[in-house]
Amino acid sequence: MSLHLEAKAGEIAPVVLLPGDPLRAQFIAERFLTDAVRVNQVRNALGFTGLYRGQRVSVQSTGMGMPSLSIYVHELLHDYGAKVLLRVGTCGALQQKVRVRDLVVALSASTDSAMNRHVFAGMDFAPTADFELLRRAHQAVARCGATAWFGNVLTSDTFYSDDSPQWQTWIRHGVLAAEMETAALYTLSARFGARALSLLTVSDHVITGEHTSAEERQRSFGQMIELALEIGVPSENR
Ligand code: HPA
Repeated sequence: MSLHLEAKAGEIAPVVLLPGDPLRAQFIAERFLTDAVRVNQVRNALGFTGLYRGQRVSVQSTGMGMPSLSIYVHELLHDYGAKVLLRVGTCGALQQKVRVRDLVVALSASTDSAMNRHVFAGMDFAPTADFELLRRAHQAVARCGATAWFGNVLTSDTFYSDDSPQWQTWIRHGVLAAEMETAALYTLSARFGARALSLLTVSDHVITGEHTSAEERQRSFGQMIELALEIGVPSENR
């Protein structure tokens, strides 16, 4: 048990999928895991542990934004000894070539947040994905033929912004998409010596204003979960 998670010791698996939305956590557990049991419902931040290919996997919702994700990820790492964290979320594309429904795999996460500046006393840490997970992601994407972009994302503190020119500098530097959690996930995983990777489906396009329907989001979300499970629990001899 930790401050925000009621799971007992040993009830959370070393591999944890991290959607923002509690109902997505439930959907993943019901649709993709066998023998899933709910291990958290404090604040309705639903968490489950079940089996995938016979191996234990957990799924824990994180809420939106870095402060919320940081609470859950800190406790998963510090109190439950999680080892592999796979964020499964959505993002807004910042480049024309990146289309809605594509997958973005976050190699690194830039940020407009001050969270890490406090931690690093004004210096800049570069939050980076785990290379082994990235390698597995690259292989899994090649096998399933999904359209995926590997690169830098912007972890932003804001979803709605009055000031659209603020995107231009990120766009000019090739940042693929905006989301709100990855920089904190990568920083905490580095601190605790765990592996982390963010997989993001493009739900909307910051430049064109295009966005996906709820049904399309659900479909691309399902493909992304299959990829995340393949990365977290790779089948042997691959
Ligand atoms: N900005 C930030 N986070 C997001 C977006 C966005 O446009 N789309 C999905 N998550």
